[in-house]
Parts: sequence; C-alpha cells; structure tokens
Amino acid sequence: MVRLPCLLLLLLPLLRVSAPEPCELDDEDYRCACNFTSPQPDWSSALQCMVAVEVEVRGGGRGLEEFLLKSASADPKQYADMLKALRLRRLTVGAARVPAQLLAAVLRALGYSRLKELTLEDLEVTGQIPPPLQETPGPALTTLTLRNVSWAAGGAWLGELQQWLKPNLKVLKVAQTRPLAFSCTQLRTFPVLSTLDLSDNPRLGERGLTAALCPSKFPALEDLELRNAGMGTPNGVCAALAGAGVRPHRLDLSHNPLRATTSGAPGCVWPATLSSLNLSFAELEQVPKGLPPKLSVLDLSCNKLNRAPRPDELPDVNNLTLEGNPYLDPEALQHQENTMASGVAPVCARSALTVGVSGTLALLQGARGFA
Ligand SMILES: *[C@@H]1O[C@H](CO)[C@@H](O)[C@H](O)[C@H]1NC(C)=O
Ligand SMILES: *[C@@H]1O[C@H](CO)[C@@H](O)[C@H](O)[C@H]1NC(C)=O
Ligand SMILES: *[C@@H]1O[C@H](CO)[C@@H](O)[C@H](O)[C@H]1NC(C)=O
Ligand SMILES: *[C@@H]1O[C@H](CO)[C@@H](O)[C@H](O)[C@H]1NC(C)=O
Repeated sequence: MVRLPCLLLLLLPLLRVSAPEPCELDDEDYRCACNFTSPQPDWSSALQCMVAVEVEVRGGGRGLEEFLLKSASADPKQYADMLKALRLRRLTVGAARVPAQLLAAVLRALGYSRLKELTLEDLEVTGQIPPPLQETPGPALTTLTLRNVSWAAGGAWLGELQQWLKPNLKVLKVAQTRPLAFSCTQLRTFPVLSTLDLSDNPRLGERGLTAALCPSKFPALEDLELRNAGMGTPNGVCAALAGAGVRPHRLDLSHNPLRATTSGAPGCVWPATLSSLNLSFAELEQVPKGLPPKLSVLDLSCNKLNRAPRPDELPDVNNLTLEGNPYLDPEALQHQENTMASGVAPVCARSALTVGVSGTLALLQGARGFA
C-alpha cells in the first residue's frame, strides 16, 4: 500500500527534468495560461485549460500552419455539446503567426461556446479570412481587443472578421494594429457598439482617424477613446467626428501632444451629445479654442497652463479639473520638462503610472525624443 506513493516520489525529480509544463491552471480552476515557447511543445498540456473561465495561450512566436490541415478535417458541429459546456468566457491568443483560415476555423468552433471576450495580441495574420458558411456564425462576443496585430488582408480585415461575429459587440479596442484604415464599404454596421478605443496608435493622427471612423457604421457609439493616438488639435478631431457623423458622449484625448488651434482655422460644430472631454496630459499651454460650448466634465489636468483660464476661454462646464498645471503647482512645469515621472506633480505621476500602456508609451516616446 505504501509502496506506490514512494515510487511516485522517486519519479518526481525525473518528471521535473523534462520540460516544464507549458500550461498552468490556478487552484480555483478559474485562470489557465499556456506559453508554448519550447521548439517541440507539448500541446496536449492545454487540455487542463478546458475547465477554466479565463484562458491565455501564447505561441512563442511560432507559425501555426501545421494546425491548418488538422482543422480542415475537423467539424466543430461534432463537438458542439462539449463546446457549449465549456466555462470559457475570456480568451487571449498571442505571439504567433496565424493563417487567416485557421482563425476562421477557431471562430467557427467558438461559435458553439459562450465566449464573451476575445483578445488577439502580438499576432501576424497571413492570408484572407474566408467568408463563413451561412449556418455557422462565430461567437457572440461583447468585447474584442487587438493589440499589435498585423493583417495581410489590409484594410479589409475588420470587415472579414466581423462576418464571423454575432452582432453583439459592445467594446472594440484596437491598438498598435496595422492597417487601421478600414475598408468602409465592406464593413457592416456595429448595431450596439458603445465603446471604440483606438488608444496607443501614436501614428494614427486625425487623418487616420477619419479613415478609421467609417460613416454610419457606429450608430450606438458613446465612448471614443483616443489616448496617445497622435491627435494634433481638438478641432481636427471634431472635423473627423463631423465627417463620419459619429456622435459620442465621452471623448478621451488625453496623452496626445495637442497644439493650440490657429486663429484662422475653420470652426467645427461638436456633436450635441458630447458631455465629457478629457484633455489631460496634452501638453497644453493654453485652453484650446473651439471647444464645445457646454460640457458636464472637462479634464485639463496635467497640462502646462501658466495662469488660471479666464471664464471666457472655458466652456460652460460643471466639473472642471485643472490639477497638476504649473500655475497651481509652480514646480510642475519644471518637472514636466524633465519628463521623468519621478519629478511630475504627484497627481500627474499617479495617473501616468495607472494609465498603463498609454503612460508607458508616452514615457517611451518622451525618452526617445531626448535620445
Ligand atoms: C513566455 O515565455 C517566454 C520565454 O520563456 C517569456 O519571455 C515570456 O515572457 C512568456 N510570456 C508570458 C506571457 O508569460
Ligand atoms: C508585435 O508582434 C510581433 C509578432 O507579430 C512581435 O514579433 C513583436 O515583438 C511584437 N511587438 C511588441 C512591441 O510586442
Ligand atoms: C467630477 O469628475 C470626477 C472625475 O470623473 C469625479 O470623480 C467627481 O466626482 C465629479 N464631481 C462632480 C461634482 O460631479
Ligand atoms: C482623463 O484621462 C486621464 C489619463 O488618461 C485619466 O487619468 C483621467 O481619469 C481621465 N479623466 C476623466 C474625467 O475621466
């Protein structure tokens, strides 16, 4: 009776010598993460993730072409009951070169699951996504996030991907992804999309924004997030919104190096729906001209304002934030010019850290500027 455990204990060091398990499931069976970095990874290790709610799979940067043949012969309908029973709600797929056909096969299978949030990260998608067969729509995602994904399909990628999703998408986040100029004619309407986050695309600019905001495709948009997206002036953003007929309630332009609008520039009519505008961390030395006449929230914190804005320079606003400007904290300007977070006024340093990627990228860009 006692012998078996002893034997196992003896085996334990031997087992450890072989490559470490690529997948790890936490004690609550909630989160499972796989990192297939070794040259001959043990893919079967991923089976333990079947019980998890949150799964992250990273491919060690390899090409996944070998799975294409396997997926071609598999009919997910056969496994529909099993896929339906999965607890999986959040899935991240990263660090790989993925044939678009394989992505389509995965989305088809996930169509039987109850996945809600999908993140694609550090991927190169090759080829074009084939259109779905009529009776096999993909998952009913509410959130789709793409970070550092490049698409061989060019601007058509969003339209191709959209065909595989049920029309439930509420949140779309696209960062560091190429290309960002969508082929608007191929895009269908996102009927319930309320948040479009194009933050952390420092090369986007107003021109890129105009190309990304396909007219009448985002009728339910409430939040437009453009942190660190290379925006030049609030007026330019206003023009892009007006051109696309996009009517957000909240607009985040923080972490953009904004310039003051030149006095001769044509005015722009902001959407009447806009009630919250974030212009923090925008290097503003004065309040830009041509802001919406009335707002409930205006965040001008962590800029370079040297004096208190006069009432005639400001919109009619209920909730104005001016913290972290040099006229309130004389040391702030000096600190900001040093650009190191350690020196920035405390309120600004804290946000710069909590903002995560935006803050990091902003700092990196700042550092590059000095190199
Ligand atoms: C995956 O493994 C590689 C190599 O060991 C490592 O550099 C990387 O940070 C890991 N990724 C994650 C998300 O743990
Ligand atoms: C972006 O993804 C590619 C793979 O497509 C990878 O090689 C690269 O390191 C990633 N970049 C960053 C900043 O993570
Ligand atoms: C003003 O906005 C800030 C940030 O959104 C919030 O914390 C604060 O409660 C708001 N104040 C009022 C009076 O609405
Ligand atoms: C404005 O943006 C900054 C940085 O992105 C953030 O810390 C702050 O909470 C935002 N303000 C409002 C009112 O949402």
